[in-house]
Amino acid sequence: MPSEQPLTLHKYRYLTNRSRINHLLDEYLAVDHLSHHLNDLTTQFSNPHQRPWGPIRWQAIDPTQIVSIEPEIFLELLAGAAEVESPIRSYSRESWEYLQNFHPQMATFLGGTYGPEQSIQIVGIWEKEERQHTPALKKIYQQLTDQTLTLKPNTVKGYHPSTTPHQDVYRHLVSRLSSEWSAISLYLWLMAHSTGALQQAISQILQDEVNHLAKFWGFSRWAFGRSFQAQFLASTHNAIQLFKHHGQERSHGTQALNTHHLLHQLSESIELVFTFLRVMVRIRRWDAELSPSYLSYLFGPQPLETLQC
Ligand SMILES: [Fe+2]
Ligand SMILES: [Fe+2]
Repeated sequence: MPSEQPLTLHKYRYLTNRSRINHLLDEYLAVDHLSHHLNDLTTQFSNPHQRPWGPIRWQAIDPTQIVSIEPEIFLELLAGAAEVESPIRSYSRESWEYLQNFHPQMATFLGGTYGPEQSIQIVGIWEKEERQHTPALKKIYQQLTDQTLTLKPNTVKGYHPSTTPHQDVYRHLVSRLSSEWSAISLYLWLMAHSTGALQQAISQILQDEVNHLAKFWGFSRWAFGRSFQAQFLASTHNAIQLFKHHGQERSHGTQALNTHHLLHQLSESIELVFTFLRVMVRIRRWDAELSPSYLSYLFGPQPLETLQC
C-alpha cells in the first residue's frame, strides 16, 4: 500500500540513526574515557590545562554533510545549542560563588580567580573550554547557511545563597550536570545526523562536554555520596520534559503542518530522548566503578557535613 511507504522508510531511518548513536556513544563515552577525564581533575588543581582541540576543516563544512534529517531541523537545534552555551562568563561566576567556600580548587577550575576588586584575574579552565563553543557553533552555522547567526542572550539565575550552603552547592552541581548531560545528548544527536568535516567539528565540542560531565559527576559523587546519584537521576525527568516541550513548540509553530514534517519532528524528539537515556545507562555503568575509597584517593576524605544532602 502506498500510504505505508513513508512509515516504513521512517522506521528504517530511525533504526539506522539509533545504531549511529550507539556507535558514537561507544567511541566518545567509553568507560575508560570517563575515568581518564575524572583522574585528570586532580591534576587540573595543581596544573590547570585546557583540553586541546583537534584540527577542524572549516572550509570543508557544507550542507550536504547533514544526513537523515531535514536541514532546517538540524540548523534549528544547532542554533538552539549556540544560544544555551552563552553567556559563559556569567555561568562561570555563578559556579565560583557557589563553590568558593566549599572547595576552592573546584571553584578555580570552573570560575578562575578574582582580585580584591572582584575583577577576574585568571580565567577558569571550564570557562576557557566552554567559551569556544558558541563561536564554533556560529561558525558551523555560517558555513552551512552563508548567514550570520544572531543570538538572544540567555538568562543566568546568578548566585542566590540560602541558609543551607551545602544544599546550595548540591543544587548548583545538579544544574551544571543537567546542562552538560543535555549538551552531550544534543551534540551526539547532531553528530548522528552529520558526516565528514561537519561531524568532526561538532565532535570537538562534544568531547569537551563529556570531559566536564565526567569531572562534575565524580566530584559530586565524592561530595554527596550515593544518595546524590538517585536524586540526580530523578531530576533528569525535567530534562526529558524539555525535549518533549521542544518538539511540541515547533509542531504548533508557523511551519507547514504536513504529515511528513510532523513525522520528522516526532522522530527527532524520540531520538533525543533515546540519546539522553543511553547516556544515562553509560554513566550508571561507569558510576558503579566509583568506590568511596577511589574517590577519597582522588579528592581526600568525603566532607562529612554534606552526608545529609
Ligand atoms: Fe558547552
Ligand atoms: Fe560543558
